[in-house]
Amino acid sequence: MSEANPERAIDRGEGTEAGRSAHSIHFDIFTLFPSMFCGPLSESILKRAQEKGLLSVALHDIRAYTTDRHHICDDTPYGGGGGMIMKPEPIFRAVETVLTGPPGWQLAPEDAFVNLPPWDPETPAPLPAEVPIILLTPQGRRLNQAIVTELSHFRRLALICGRYEGVDERVRTQLVSDEISIGDYVLSGGELAAMVLVDAITRLVPGVLGYAEGAQQDSHSPGLGGLLEGPQYTRPYSFRGEQVPDILLSGHHGHVARWRREQALLRTLQRRPDLLQTVNLSDEDRTFLRRHGWQPEMGEGEQERDADQ
Ligand code: ADE
Repeated sequence: MSEANPERAIDRGEGTEAGRSAHSIHFDIFTLFPSMFCGPLSESILKRAQEKGLLSVALHDIRAYTTDRHHICDDTPYGGGGGMIMKPEPIFRAVETVLTGPPGWQLAPEDAFVNLPPWDPETPAPLPAEVPIILLTPQGRRLNQAIVTELSHFRRLALICGRYEGVDERVRTQLVSDEISIGDYVLSGGELAAMVLVDAITRLVPGVLGYAEGAQQDSHSPGLGGLLEGPQYTRPYSFRGEQVPDILLSGHHGHVARWRREQALLRTLQRRPDLLQTVNLSDEDRTFLRRHGWQPEMGEGEQERDADQ
């Protein structure tokens, strides 16, 4: 569990009218490297979502909120040891200034460093309770599709990208409401993790994906009940000696649907048997899985070995 400031813990929006109805989503991203986001935001689905008015992203350069001569954002750790820690003041100043301003507000480039709105380092600003402030960190809740879905119900999210060896602990204790990790490995900073989050969340905003059911049938998604998606084929029918399974050409929707279900079950059994513990399985599913070596009472390691054979 993350230890984000409990006073900033927020209503995650599930089950509310706002959480269910069509909406657009806005991200305020706080980073030392705003230009890292240009590629992902200017291609494909994220680009189209912005054009359709379903997604907006404001990139806020944390360094623009420094007022010292050298625009310093990091410092050595108290107690010694290697590495540099991100200082609290530029992060607090950036986040408090942006989130207490009108929605969509961004510091004009010519105002960076020199013409910042007034800010008192000792007085916490009244932050909007409905906006989660998420720190991307390997210490956070490990991201999965359920968390992505939970976060997709918000209209506005603030993402803070850490760099160097980490951020000053007071960012955690006094500013953020949530901490997210995209996996058990260490990146050079939170920027790539923030992009992952923006992409995964935006796909769930109604109207972003052209094909209405698109996101529903993805691996890990509700349409597949938490299973991995099975194999998919397109033309040509035959490629390098491998043919498309005939059932997919049969035109029999019922048989195709059952085959797809079985392939999803099989793939999940082979690759992620742990997921089967939380999937809603019918008697037919269970019989099928047992025929392929599934033993629900088995430990994870044993299961994987058996299914691979
Ligand atoms: N920053 C560095 N590593 C990270 C990770 N695995 N997830 C999120 N933010 C990070």
